[in-house]
Amino acid sequence: MAKENIDWTKVTQAVRTDVRLRATPNPVARAVDIAHVRFSRQDVMKQGRFLADFGLREVPGSDGWQAFGGTGGYGPCYLLQQGEDAFMGLGLAVSSRADLEKLAAQRNASGIEPALCWPGGEQVRLTDPAGNSVYAVHGPFVEAASPRPPLNQNLDNVLQRLNDMQRPPEQAATVLRLGHGVLGVVDFFRCVRWYMDHFGLVPSDIQTIGEGDPALVFMRCNRGDMPVDHHTVVIAQNVLNLFSHAAFECIDLDDIAMGQEWLMSRGWKHAWGVGRHLLGSQIFDYWRDPVGDKLEHFVDSDKFTADKPADVSPLSTGGLYQWGPPVPADFEKPRMTPSLLWKAIRNIRASEEMTFTRVKDLMRAVATPPRPWH
Ligand SMILES: [Fe+2]
Repeated sequence: MAKENIDWTKVTQAVRTDVRLRATPNPVARAVDIAHVRFSRQDVMKQGRFLADFGLREVPGSDGWQAFGGTGGYGPCYLLQQGEDAFMGLGLAVSSRADLEKLAAQRNASGIEPALCWPGGEQVRLTDPAGNSVYAVHGPFVEAASPRPPLNQNLDNVLQRLNDMQRPPEQAATVLRLGHGVLGVVDFFRCVRWYMDHFGLVPSDIQTIGEGDPALVFMRCNRGDMPVDHHTVVIAQNVLNLFSHAAFECIDLDDIAMGQEWLMSRGWKHAWGVGRHLLGSQIFDYWRDPVGDKLEHFVDSDKFTADKPADVSPLSTGGLYQWGPPVPADFEKPRMTPSLLWKAIRNIRASEEMTFTRVKDLMRAVATPPRPWH
């Protein structure tokens, strides 16, 4: 059925009441934010140089890991070790030590142990249904502090800068904190359910394929009346289990744009930007690290309390952004080698929920040109 012939009021109602995506009333624990992402790299020297140019500062590591941080957060937000190029998991900060105890009692969870590279922090290791290591962490929190206020702008008749110039510093962007992580998964509903059940995440936006079949969900933390980012973890239907990107909050648009100048001057590979997302509303700029994984700078996220119900919309490439350059063809699609293709087919056959019809609907949704003029 053509997208324009779908009754969106009906679809929205059906998706909002879909038991597979309904928020868990009593989750095992409550996440308060994302804490970190972990990677291994064959060339850790080169990775470290990229991270410094991206705006992350190296802090003391431990147990063979290097640690990089922003100006605040739940310990260092990027952990790096020597090894095959791979995503090694993500950390979610939970609201109390009691939450760690409850998570440690779950099947296949580790006991409570000292958190990696975070003095005073503790962690419990779990594994999500896609096989990703997920670390529940708890410990000392540092409020993100910006080294400068956002730039003053002369807009309309609001004069904020008289007899003075606009000169943002020529330097790497300032990473304040890690804001969200995005994962592609084969068993979409199982994964979403797992994050909701274990960490109390709630949907902010759900995107559908076909005739209203959910295939992507932006989830945020449930902190009651306290405003939180529009999304902390995003789960997207894929034919492979993979890391899509991690996003780091910066000071303002000029911080991101000067950060782009800085990364370009150092010869790193740009991925996409600068633009403004539609869902979450962030201004974004994406970069490829030395092995091709994407890291994002962002500012100006929507902030929601627990009261905001989920919105529902059709998944499309054009729906990724309000303004910005066209989405590059390789932005979300992995380069399909014969071995990856075989892996994808095996994944679809082995999955209880992924079907070839769903793959076709997914491909159709993302194949539409992002704008009529492209
Ligand atoms: Fe993002």
